[in-house]
Amino acid sequence: DLPDADPFEVARIAAEQIAEKTGVERHDIALTLGSGWGKAAELLGETTATIPAQEITGFSKPALEGHVGTLRSVLLPTGKRALVIGARTHYYEDHGVRRVVHSVRTAAATGVKTMILTNGAGGIKDTWTPGTPVLISDHINLTADSPLEGATFIDLTDLYSTRLRDLARTIDPSLDEGVYCQFRGPHYETPAEVQMAKTIGGHIVGMSTALEAIAARQSGMEVLGMSLITNLAAGIQKTPLSHAEVIEAGQLAEPVISALLARIVAAI
Ligand code: 6GU
Repeated sequence: DLPDADPFEVARIAAEQIAEKTGVERHDIALTLGSGWGKAAELLGETTATIPAQEITGFSKPALEGHVGTLRSVLLPTGKRALVIGARTHYYEDHGVRRVVHSVRTAAATGVKTMILTNGAGGIKDTWTPGTPVLISDHINLTADSPLEGATFIDLTDLYSTRLRDLARTIDPSLDEGVYCQFRGPHYETPAEVQMAKTIGGHIVGMSTALEAIAARQSGMEVLGMSLITNLAAGIQKTPLSHAEVIEAGQLAEPVISALLARIVAAI
């Protein structure tokens, strides 16, 4: 949109618009809901405002089926305020990495200290079945890009907060975890690429989250990452992958994982 503008200034403008349209000056927690996680928006608490994404600077209508396209302000039972982001710009949409992380920077500018990033993804561990939610323990960024511009050297140790992962496991002790590999997409990986991801230490393959998590750390937020395994990755699963299969697995798992996420958020 605004190629010459300072991205943090654009985020500040978006945050002001959100404060104005929601009547909520500061939000505490933000959630980006990927495919399969959308129902969490209703289960978290009382939605006090819903804004079509395109009404906020830097956001646009979702490019894709299975993505909601709104920003919501939700009053949690704890009295905290959650900003629910149902509008994600994917790296493969080619709007640049600034646009990909704009929602994260906007969340930070609204006061958010805890950023929850969710997605639907492919599983490499063959003990996982479609519909399994897993915690992201770390990532491997295979986009060869970064949301940081210029000489900004930041540490990414414990990027996916151990504290928040432990807290999630107090809600569901059976939650497994794994390393998320962000590929550019939008094609799924070849079986050879999946083997590469496995060899270099990956357990989950997807097309989002890692770049957003880096931006969240830069803005000083604590990050919780969760993937819904919608299918096993190419070559791990013997049948070809289809977007329809991914959407369907998301829809089937949605009630269960959304309820889980709502319980985790209530505990934060
Ligand atoms: Cl197998 N790969 C990627 N990159 N994203 C996915 C997926 C696979 N399954 C769901 N989303």
